[in-house]
Amino acid sequence: MDSTFVRSLYSSLDPNIALFENAGGTQVPDIVMAQAADFYGKLNVQPGYPYQKSMDCLQVLNEAHDAAGRFIGVQTSGRIVLGPSATALNRMMAVALLERFKPGDEIIVTVSDHEANVSPWMYLKRYGIEVKIWNIDPGTFELEVKNLKELITPRTVLVAFPHISNVLGTVNDIVALTSIVHDAGALAYVDGVASVPHVYVDVESTGVDFYVYSLYKTFGPHMAALYVRRELLQSLEGANHFFLNDMIPKKFELGTPNLEGCAAVLGVEEYFSIIQKHEFGNGKGKNNPFPVVMKAVKEYEKGLTARLLEGLAESDRIRIIGFSKDQQPERRVPVVSFTVEGIQPRDAAEKLAERGIAVGCGHFYAYRLVDFLGLMEKGGVLRASLVHYNTLEEADRFLQALFSILD
Ligand SMILES: Cc1ncc(COP(=O)(O)O)c(C=O)c1O
Repeated sequence: MDSTFVRSLYSSLDPNIALFENAGGTQVPDIVMAQAADFYGKLNVQPGYPYQKSMDCLQVLNEAHDAAGRFIGVQTSGRIVLGPSATALNRMMAVALLERFKPGDEIIVTVSDHEANVSPWMYLKRYGIEVKIWNIDPGTFELEVKNLKELITPRTVLVAFPHISNVLGTVNDIVALTSIVHDAGALAYVDGVASVPHVYVDVESTGVDFYVYSLYKTFGPHMAALYVRRELLQSLEGANHFFLNDMIPKKFELGTPNLEGCAAVLGVEEYFSIIQKHEFGNGKGKNNPFPVVMKAVKEYEKGLTARLLEGLAESDRIRIIGFSKDQQPERRVPVVSFTVEGIQPRDAAEKLAERGIAVGCGHFYAYRLVDFLGLMEKGGVLRASLVHYNTLEEADRFLQALFSILD
């Protein structure tokens, strides 16, 4: 992947600051900004009426759903719900699913999830649903299958788990996990927010029932997309007005949609097409840039991850919270959390900022995980989260800056 070319597509990237807080939200390429601006300049009316601008708006709305689906391998319309955030979509789905659950039914959540895939399920406790927590093994940082199997009972109705934890950065085998969940007769609700920026998933072939991701962490607008298995999307009671209950996805899209955001989503697909063209010309991925570009992204990011893990391993004052360099690097993305002995995460982040490195610190809303690991009172963790517009040179600058504050 030609990182110089990729970076040229973003006027917001500052060469003097290594932006390593991308798991909190990515920058948007210029084409995404242009699409949103263009929408305001040329369309911006209520969709669905029989005049040209309105019909064009409807087209933007429909195409944005399809594009958000293609990003996760969904090739057919009518499977994607768009909304303001993953948190909001998850909460709405939890409430919609309530009609299927009975008091005494059980839901399993993981300790490694962002709270967005925990609190909607915890909310159902007030309706008599029991919620159990699937802990990671604190030694391996893994969600062990044997622990899941111990938690599953005939009353289990849903298991919520992350494709990748936004703190640990390890890829979970969602196909294997979903098969265990389905064997138990339960639904699989997967948080893909931390994975879609790094790993291409053909979501329908995984068998999951729900898969959510945030568009603002995938080079797009502040919106989120939720894949729902078609049968569920059809049969669940909608959350919208009664006369919209047969309309997919409208039954779960409340109010007038974020149309400028939809235009920006189309910009994300164009961005991937621009990279596809640069990397592969008229060849691979011409008709659907996501799989091929994301494959190149994965290869490129492997190098970033390796550089970070190797560099961090050089100090025994640094503890990686997640897989280290010797543990299954193929299951790792460049989201690396760590602690530094003797320096609070926030102090370290401030010192790094003075040196031109932007990283986040704290619990990143994976509150239960950081608490479970006993790190809350120590200020949580530092997290370096890179994406494909970051470079090895930036990784080196980050390591140099980090080691300078250890002295
Ligand atoms: C893994 C994960 N899930 C969910 C969320 C919440 O996403 P949203 O802001 O779209 O609700 C985040 C945000 O950081 C996240 O990292």
